[in-house]
Amino acid sequence: MRTSRGNVPLNRLLPFILLLVVFAFGLAFPLSNFFVVRPSVADVSKNPDFAPVAKILQSSCVDCHSVTPRLIAHPYYAAFPIARDTIARDMLEGQKSFKLTEDQVSGKELISSIDLAKITTVVEEGSMPPIRYKALHWDASLNAKQRAAILKYIESRRQ
Ligand code: HEC
Repeated sequence: MRTSRGNVPLNRLLPFILLLVVFAFGLAFPLSNFFVVRPSVADVSKNPDFAPVAKILQSSCVDCHSVTPRLIAHPYYAAFPIARDTIARDMLEGQKSFKLTEDQVSGKELISSIDLAKITTVVEEGSMPPIRYKALHWDASLNAKQRAAILKYIESRRQ
């Protein structure tokens, strides 16, 4: 039986190989974020409504809003020129409008009502985390369940 393995010249394959390399290089950024080790802070609030919120803040918000450096997970590309400036600007701008301490993340200290009101707005608008961050952190987007958990906790604080 004859096998028909056509002889495709290398120069015709080259564009595809290049495309593959570029594609793999691009994927290396978001994929690497699944392996970044993030220290986790246990929930000490003793409030079942806050427990899921403590997790969400750590998985989706602390990289830009935490004033506790220990909680921030820097990706390997954080030292690259464009990434470095973007990350620095995001942390600066983010913390101008909303700061999270380690005690707030763990529930030891309550997040202020003013900050909760701001969080309600961004959760309802779906504006946080910013799209540029979600593009590289595929597990950071808030799903419906997570949004509901945040809003439920905020509602419980109003009573
Ligand atoms: C990539 C960095 C980044 C991440 C991650 C991020 N934010 Fe932000 N956040 C910002 C920046 C930058 C601003 C200020 C500019 C703006 O509003 O876009 C901001 C602003 C805010 C504000 C203030 C909005 C206002 O109108 O005053 C709140 C509240 C907020 N973020 C909450 C969150 C929450 C909650 C999460 C996680 C679900 C989160 N952010 C994740 C960068 C980030």
